[in-house]
Amino acid sequence: EKGGYDYFMLKEIAEQPKAVADTLLGRIDASGSLSLDEVRIPVSVLREVDKVVIVACGTAYHAGMIAKLAIEHWTRIPCETELASEFRYRDPILDQRTLVVAISQSGETMDTLMALRHAREQGAKVLAVCNTNGSTIPRESDAVLYTHAGPEVAVASTKAFLTQLVACYLVALYLGQVRGTKWGDEIEAVIRELSDIAAAVDTVLETMEPVRALARSLADKNTVLFLGRHVGYPVALEGALKLKELAYMHAEGFAAGELKHGPIALIEKDLPVVVVVPSPRGRSVLHDKIVSNIQEIRARGARTIVIAEEGDEAVVPYADHLIRIPATPTLLQPLVATVPLQVFACELATARGNEVDQPRNLAKSVTVE
Ligand code: F6R
Repeated sequence: EKGGYDYFMLKEIAEQPKAVADTLLGRIDASGSLSLDEVRIPVSVLREVDKVVIVACGTAYHAGMIAKLAIEHWTRIPCETELASEFRYRDPILDQRTLVVAISQSGETMDTLMALRHAREQGAKVLAVCNTNGSTIPRESDAVLYTHAGPEVAVASTKAFLTQLVACYLVALYLGQVRGTKWGDEIEAVIRELSDIAAAVDTVLETMEPVRALARSLADKNTVLFLGRHVGYPVALEGALKLKELAYMHAEGFAAGELKHGPIALIEKDLPVVVVVPSPRGRSVLHDKIVSNIQEIRARGARTIVIAEEGDEAVVPYADHLIRIPATPTLLQPLVATVPLQVFACELATARGNEVDQPRNLAKSVTVE
């Protein structure tokens, strides 16, 4: 049932192009608009929303961090993303005009469930983004947008994460569409480009052999750092989380701009540092900033592993290892940039002799608070 793969995780990584395509299926109509009829929250209610709060745990929380950037950009509605386990203990400000988005693969995560119960008690509307039909979180929400990743067996989340991102982009674009924003043209263009994303993920998967070889060569390292900015920051956190849970290595993700405020003290000779580089098109300021971050860490001896868009030549002189990803719109880049990090962690875990599908101390579904 592993379909010829050694591990479920490898199978699930390979299934990502299909998972992404399936999650888009039937949600974009012939005219290129979104039709999310299953989101049974009336358009009149969505038009009145004045704040979005996203709650989730672990990998789903990283999807939520990216969703915040997409929602605020395309809708101009203030949005915050919070760890579900922290949320209700701080007495959050919620009312009928708050839309809470609860993201969960399993639909059974107790922290997320308790957060959404708290939100509904305060009168907020809750939209679940979930991969498991009929599970508790969608049953207790006002509406649900299902991700169509299919069953995810490996404890480390991969295809569910990519489909959570797709679903979150759909929510952001849909909110933009029903409310009308100045980004109308961009929203139409991004909806079109989403249709090409499955093929882009496939392209990444075809070029992963050097990433596997690199991972094997780092099997005796103790620490790997991950840096990113904007959408690349949650991708860095996700890369670090995958490495912790699978390879049991010390792995940390940082916002690259924070380096000089502390973490740069960690840089020493031969320390592997993965850097997620934003597109040089689009927000080029961000790109230039991260190129100087790469120079800074390399000058201090770091071994730089650079994930950059095809055609980005500015990073070449500073990359000890260069991992190419297809060009995408800025906000969609996590869909392609995360994939090499999944492969990297999986291969490192294998090289270190760890059980890939069942990491120690972890469970697939965390039904205790
Ligand atoms: C990491 C991982 C966990 C889950 C988290 C939330 O690979 O799988 O961090 O993402 O436990 O689980 P769900 O999405 O089921 O609520």
